[in-house]
Amino acid sequence: MSLPPGFLDELRTRVPISRVIGRKVVWDLRKSNQARGDWWAPCPFHQEKSASFHCDDQKGFYYCFGCQAKGDVLTFLRESDGMEFMDAVRFLAAEAGMSLPEPDPRARERSDRRDQLLKVTEAALRWFRLQLQTAAAAEARDYLTRRGLDQPALDRFEIGFAPDNRHALTRALREKGFEESQIVEAGMSARPDDGGAAYDRFRGRIIFPIRDGRDRVIGFGGRAMDPNARAKYLNSPETPLFDKGRNLYHLGPARAAVAKGQPLIVAEGYMDVIALARAGFEGTVAPLGTAITEDQLRLMWRISPEPVIALDGDAAGLRAAQRLIDLALPMTGPGQALRFVLLPAGQDPDDLIKSAGAGAMRALLDQARPLIDLLWTRETEGQRFDSPERKAALDRRLQEAIARIPDELTRRHYTEEIRRKRWELFGNRPPGNRGQGGRPAGGRPARSGKASMAATGPIPAIPLDGPNAGPALLEGAALLICALRPEMIAAAEPRLERLSPRDPGRAALLHDLLVADSSDAGRQALETLRADAHLGLTPAVIEQQDAEAAAAILTNLLDRLEAHRAASAELARAEAEIQGEVDEGLTWRMQQTARARHRAERPDMEDSGDLNEDRDALSAQLQTWLSGEIWRKPPRR
Ligand code: UTP
Ligand code: MN
Repeated sequence: MSLPPGFLDELRTRVPISRVIGRKVVWDLRKSNQARGDWWAPCPFHQEKSASFHCDDQKGFYYCFGCQAKGDVLTFLRESDGMEFMDAVRFLAAEAGMSLPEPDPRARERSDRRDQLLKVTEAALRWFRLQLQTAAAAEARDYLTRRGLDQPALDRFEIGFAPDNRHALTRALREKGFEESQIVEAGMSARPDDGGAAYDRFRGRIIFPIRDGRDRVIGFGGRAMDPNARAKYLNSPETPLFDKGRNLYHLGPARAAVAKGQPLIVAEGYMDVIALARAGFEGTVAPLGTAITEDQLRLMWRISPEPVIALDGDAAGLRAAQRLIDLALPMTGPGQALRFVLLPAGQDPDDLIKSAGAGAMRALLDQARPLIDLLWTRETEGQRFDSPERKAALDRRLQEAIARIPDELTRRHYTEEIRRKRWELFGNRPPGNRGQGGRPAGGRPARSGKASMAATGPIPAIPLDGPNAGPALLEGAALLICALRPEMIAAAEPRLERLSPRDPGRAALLHDLLVADSSDAGRQALETLRADAHLGLTPAVIEQQDAEAAAAILTNLLDRLEAHRAASAELARAEAEIQGEVDEGLTWRMQQTARARHRAERPDMEDSGDLNEDRDALSAQLQTWLSGEIWRKPPRR
């Protein structure tokens, strides 16, 4: 049905969004400002105790700062009540006392025809279910029993049987008064090319009915009983009811389960959904015999911000994962993430649950890996990066992948994370012969193979650690260490080059170190560093370390310096955003970070109130947090 222009706007203005949402949430009246139509509540879309869900009557919008759920009153009705768009419009129109325009005759006809087709599929479902009770289905019942499906399971999933007969269903439906053309259009039978009578599409198969999000039977999946059948599974064809790429098996029950706090799991097949749901993972869906589509991803994200994709541990499952990475990257962002579980080789969730139990499945789900991990694995696994060209090719591929992410913040975090993984993979490059000044080339690489710092054991303490080690001090320590242990310079060269000290003396010293030279200004800066009380113990500590430990200390200093730089950039961006169009989400996240830190540091103090109001104060606060290094990772020791 097409609505007249302005109808929806009128609808939205007539019904305050808080009135509709207020039936689903309990407002936090202390935080809300009723007079201004500014409401806060614990979010109805995710589990929480605090009130991060905001709704604004003026704008007619809601936004959850916790899970990023957002939209207008119609979105809310669709997502919290599972209404279809037009049902939401109808509901709201009744609320507003507005009457819906008469549907245009063509739309009316279409919807009447769909209603007719639904009657065909409903009748077919009843018939398939009955067939499972007949003598002809003895073998099918045995098969289902072997697969562990008892009567309650057969009822719950409405499993049926299509006997191996070319005309049984078509005939039964005709006897119920349906036209052959309707039966064909509903996908239940097919007309042969020679123009003969229509014959049953599903023959000799176990039948899995497929219902849409509104619980209507839109199609069927049929599993062959005969192991030599041409297709193991046959699904309804595309019909006016059945759009494979826009529906998911078990959608309705899964949506209800996710609303109650279950994770949304996406498996490959009907039997997997059934096994998972019976094992307690009721928020499980599956695509309908095709690879996951964009529309299906959108559908999933309307239900959960982070579905877990559980793929079969076989070549097809791996291929599906690869495809999904490419499909999802251009759509990923806050509230639209994916996690992946790859099952053990040769198993699907049904097999795993049967052989190892629900606990084994739970353990796998708990270890689900984010999209970025799969991307990284795909681009690096089984390859050697032993030449600049190969490394460059990897960088290029990763850059191209990340560039496809539309959300800027997400892209930035991908970049950071990839940089970290890359550093772990390439590690300290073996120092080359620098050919300058005859400095010893440093011998073996500081660490071999996977050069992650965690793998080398604890980083020795150096008396710089502590909340007050600002960037200037870190930089000074790095320079001093390089002067004391020049053999370490080569390995750290690219990162040292990026230091660019502000102090001209230090800049000269860095230059000297990098080119194995010696200048007056550099020598003087070095003297200053040696005399710096805060660096007093550094030479003694460094001198005691073996090459590996000394390199780890330097790496740690450089990591921290880079983190500082990244945080400064983040601050600049945050301030820009605060001054311009405020990104509520970002501001809020930074507030939360600060509060958490504040609480950790001063457990005796009350939360210092809402910072939301005063942008200047917030900006000043940001500066304070930065000097407090809120971004700093806890020391890895
Ligand atoms: P699988 O071959 O992994 O089947 O196909 P399965 O779910 O493990 O089935 P069982 O355990 O052998 O009974 C996964 C899904 O791919 C689609 C179906 O939707 C199936 O559930 N499929 C598979 C087809 O559409 N056609 C086929 O021939 C095979
Ligand atoms: Mn299986």
